[in-house]
Amino acid sequence: MESTPSTRPAPRASLVLTDVVKSFGGRTVADIPHLKLGRYGVEGLIGPNGAGKTTVTKLITGAHSLDRGTISYHGPSGVIDLSQLPSHRIARAGVVKSNQVIQDFETLTIRDSLLLAAARPRDERFWYLGRSRTSAELVNDIDGYLEYFRFENPDRHALSAGEKKLLDIIRCLLVKPKFLLLDEPTAGLPQWETDQVKELVRQLGAEGEISILIIEHDLELMWSVCDYVHFMADGKLLLQGTPDEVRSDPTVIEKYLGGGHVEG
Ligand SMILES: Nc1ncnc2c1ncn2[C@@H]1O[C@H](COP(=O)(O)OP(=O)(O)OP(=O)(O)O)[C@@H](O)[C@H]1O
Ligand SMILES: [Mg+2]
Repeated sequence: MESTPSTRPAPRASLVLTDVVKSFGGRTVADIPHLKLGRYGVEGLIGPNGAGKTTVTKLITGAHSLDRGTISYHGPSGVIDLSQLPSHRIARAGVVKSNQVIQDFETLTIRDSLLLAAARPRDERFWYLGRSRTSAELVNDIDGYLEYFRFENPDRHALSAGEKKLLDIIRCLLVKPKFLLLDEPTAGLPQWETDQVKELVRQLGAEGEISILIIEHDLELMWSVCDYVHFMADGKLLLQGTPDEVRSDPTVIEKYLGGGHVEG
């Protein structure tokens, strides 16, 4: 019988970091001999403030250059060496990151900022948006997210920090990434919006078309949403395992859970 490869589910996109080192001002802030991300739908990266979590995601997306090492992306078009690519090409390949720091949405309404991200991208992450979809499909996607997150009035400016945060996540999702990096997506959000983000992340992970790496200090969220967790401190990955394995590990308790760190 003839095989039908196109109907087989594509394998999840993954990232492999090998011998990755990054220093700032002579201080090593990331030193990772080997890390594979994307074996599970939703993976978490936790660790104290300054552990190097954001740095790792910026190395992946090309916002920071590597001092040493390689980062390879195993996506729908095969294996790509991300360390050789500028950030817009990395995004184009399907690896997209939301921001820990909220972007400025002062000048546009909620709906317009999403439409503009598609029509006339101001950010290289979004330049290819729309190529594979009609504008009607895009508007439909936008409406779906606006409804899901219950924006009170999408035709006014984003007012709260929460709305701006959600907009950043939606803009990432609109480009239909293969590997999504979420850096503190719920920091500063009220509980009901946190719950919505949590549910969405869980749903996206379960659907199997996207790999997610989420960074959060909200550990209850992490234990409940992550299939697998990586623990980082002082620039090094010290442990990885299921949420239950990680949360009960003495090193994690000593360096992070036992108090002494400041919630970011
Ligand atoms: N552009 C930079 N220049 C100099 N030092 C930097 C820069 N970016 C990060 N660092 C330093 O690298 C270390 C790791 O920072 P990083 O932001 O990756 O930590 P983090 O784990 O994301 O912390 P947090 O949980 O607070 O967000 C910190 O000591 C930070 O001060
Ligand atoms: Mg950070």
